[in-house]
Amino acid sequence: MTIHIYQARLLHYLSESDRTERTPSKIANANQPDYAQVSTIDQSTTLLPVTAGERIYPEYIADGALVVDDVTGRIVEYGHSKTILSKYANAEGKPAVKVHDHRDKLIMPGFIDTHVHYPQIDMIAAYGEQLLDWLNNYTFVTEANFGDPKVAHDTAQFFLNQLLANGTTSAMVFATSHPLSAEAFFAESHRLNTRMITGNVLMDQNAPEPLCVPAEQSIRDTQNIIDKWHERGRQHVAITPRFAITSSPEQLRLAGELYTSYDSVYLQTHLAENRDEVAFVQQLYPNHKGYLDVYDDMGLLGRRTTLAHGIYLETPEYECLRETGTQISHCPTSNLFLGSGLFDLPKTLSYTGVSIATDVGAGTSLSMLTTLSEAYKIQQLQSNQLSAHQGLYQITLGNAQSLLLDDKIGNFMPNKEADFVVIDMKATELLERRMAQTKSLEEQLFVLMMLGDDRVIEQTVVAGVSRYRSAAS
Ligand code: GUN
Ligand code: ZN
Repeated sequence: MTIHIYQARLLHYLSESDRTERTPSKIANANQPDYAQVSTIDQSTTLLPVTAGERIYPEYIADGALVVDDVTGRIVEYGHSKTILSKYANAEGKPAVKVHDHRDKLIMPGFIDTHVHYPQIDMIAAYGEQLLDWLNNYTFVTEANFGDPKVAHDTAQFFLNQLLANGTTSAMVFATSHPLSAEAFFAESHRLNTRMITGNVLMDQNAPEPLCVPAEQSIRDTQNIIDKWHERGRQHVAITPRFAITSSPEQLRLAGELYTSYDSVYLQTHLAENRDEVAFVQQLYPNHKGYLDVYDDMGLLGRRTTLAHGIYLETPEYECLRETGTQISHCPTSNLFLGSGLFDLPKTLSYTGVSIATDVGAGTSLSMLTTLSEAYKIQQLQSNQLSAHQGLYQITLGNAQSLLLDDKIGNFMPNKEADFVVIDMKATELLERRMAQTKSLEEQLFVLMMLGDDRVIEQTVVAGVSRYRSAAS
């Protein structure tokens, strides 16, 4: 066993209960006499939490150290580097220690993407259409290739490496309707030991024949995938009906039955992204009160459900989200690229948990920093603001909370899994020049959020193992 100490500037976000655990009175006794120096928990910054009623606190340690056990792949502790280094100084009877000096870099928890389609990496940036035509003309054509195990394997491998190059260590992912597409993704994720959620996509109507799988068969496919992969290592299964248009009522109902028969399997689908889509659903379900009512009726809603988009919702639908605990995943670059519309972040957050996601291939970048930059602009167009702390909380602890994974990932609390990114805030000449003008941490983080992308990711560590290093590092 080796103890790895990563010396760096540390930034992460604490929930109320995390903060209570970190209070000086509790840890003053734990051999940390200089607690006052250890951390700056910012109690004055008010962040909108994903979990109603909670408070969120940024914690920044300028001269920090993160301690990782390479056998368990977990965080042992974190704190001020002087305290940590003297505590772990090599001595008789103590485990071997390796110090990684990143003192001019920022270490943050690994980023989490709550909605992305791995097969669509092959058709990202497809010209000219809005949702329904884009699906028919580009998406379904590409997804039809994933019946070939080699395509599925090669693309899953490429995609996961791209996620890591962007600092993303966990994601909730769409595969295709071919069960082997989910299988290939899980196999590769399991090999990398990344914490991932996916499942075969359920489609049995209004799509090309090769992508349609009859309702009962498709649910059997999902059942088999659950049996093989759910909670195996760091993998989780999501029941994945594509959306109300491409599933028959029977397929949706069977999906709902399967969902309610489990207490930890996830469910993901799309909701109210585009006006023509909403009108089509209305046509298919004229006797339902609206789009969300279809999913509610089929038993698809609940705290383990994440619905992508949710741009066009009526008040009773927001209330239904609140009552069922259903989460919304906001996908800014996708909403802009497909001309879908402007997401009302403060309103949605006032009803339920909101996460943020890339939605590649409608989204135009796998970078969660780029995603935040576009989210900021979408809020600006509606006279709302999105601070850097709010955004960086969201892509780490906030997204973990929305996916019910915050007991495992999302910040540096002891015993969490050691998924983190080493960020070079001066990775480009422009960033270096702009950072030199900044006068506060908040200003630096905002510049990072607006100008940062995969170029700032120097290293990505997954469960204590380095899985990506930039060419420059
Ligand atoms: N709605 C149904 N399928 C999709 C998809 O693949 N991408 C997006 N953005 N919306 C969808
Ligand atoms: Zn999507």
